[in-house]
Amino acid sequence: MLAGKRIVVGVCGGIAAYKVADLVSKLRQAGADVDVILTEHAERFVSALTFSALSQRPVYGDLWEPTGEAAARHIALGREADLLLVAPATANTIARLGQGMADDLLTTVALATTAPLLLAPAMESHMYQHAATQANLRLLAERGAIVIPPESGRLASGEIGPGRLPETPTLLAWISKTLGRNGDLAGRRVVVTAGGTREPIDPVRYIGNHSSGLMGFALAEEARDRGADVTLLAGSVNAIPPDGVTLRRVGTTLELRDATLEAIREAEALVMAAAVADYRVERPAGHKIKKGSADENPDGSLTLHLTPNPDILAEINALVTAGGAPRLIRVGFAAETTDVERNAAAKLARKGLDILVANDVTKPGSGFGTETNEVILLSAGGASERLPLMTKREVARAIWDRVVPLLRDRAPSSRDAEH
Ligand code: C5P
Repeated sequence: MLAGKRIVVGVCGGIAAYKVADLVSKLRQAGADVDVILTEHAERFVSALTFSALSQRPVYGDLWEPTGEAAARHIALGREADLLLVAPATANTIARLGQGMADDLLTTVALATTAPLLLAPAMESHMYQHAATQANLRLLAERGAIVIPPESGRLASGEIGPGRLPETPTLLAWISKTLGRNGDLAGRRVVVTAGGTREPIDPVRYIGNHSSGLMGFALAEEARDRGADVTLLAGSVNAIPPDGVTLRRVGTTLELRDATLEAIREAEALVMAAAVADYRVERPAGHKIKKGSADENPDGSLTLHLTPNPDILAEINALVTAGGAPRLIRVGFAAETTDVERNAAAKLARKGLDILVANDVTKPGSGFGTETNEVILLSAGGASERLPLMTKREVARAIWDRVVPLLRDRAPSSRDAEH
């Protein structure tokens, strides 16, 4: 949750400094209060005016400006910050931070704050890979700094290699994840499945469905931002999966089944938001099926023989009943078109779920590809709760809100014991 958070963004003198303007704008739009500090070198690449216009706050630079106000400011900035991000973090500033120097406002704030320090190194590849830079980064990481790995690609120098500042959504994901690291899912391992499965017909065709993956992604992001260690198993989706989670791509239902069974070994909660194909083509053709070929029936029609896929949640239920994964909290989804509540209650029992999230996909604003969802939450205890139309992120929040107490009861963590 970025709203109301106090984020100090230190911008250093690297060509990627311009990209941070966009980040500041997005942080502001998300409701964060952003204080920007420009190093002396950053001011040669970007203007303070750009950042003050975007952050709607003064931008800090010179520790020794004549009023002396900024000199006192480092204490306040450091004390009030929820997070300090240095982006782009140049080799020079990384070295100064590593040595604990305090020769400008940014390095002084970095020493004066107890907020988490996020570093986004961005520079020419050789500078990034230099033993000195790597040693400084290791040192900072050992002291608790979080280093966002730079991306590989074309750099300003024209060379191709590691050193690019990640794009804004990636930086936002790291910020959200860091802010939430002490949340109510801290230390919990959870698995979320998202998107649709694809069952091959031949090498170029498949049977798929309209799942966009948005609900699963919202669940993964929400869990990540509450401190969970998230494994996201994504089938076919039409959105970019979130950063800051362990992502595994899957194709068919059988692949999803294997990936899910493996991922839950270490997990305490599984949320199956994926739209799983109940059937697959029994024998996918090894070649592209052609009109007028022997693949067709004599009357020109084509027959695909479909065979049932395993029900992943039902298999996991059987595993739990047999004594495997006894603590796993299981949440399923039911996309219904008729008699939603009754069908959903039957599904919850059949699949042995703790929570079933039922939605009527025929309702406007609910279901595939929409940003919103209107759902009913059914619990194993028999409770049923109808939630109003809300964003998928809000639905995700409501689901995890109900999973957290179940986790505390079934798999208390050392943190719970402290309370
Ligand atoms: O039975 P139905 O497909 O409506 O159940 C939906 C729920 O079961 C979803 O959570 C879905 O991810 C899961 N499912 C499954 N294995 C299947 C089909 C659905 O785990 N073969």
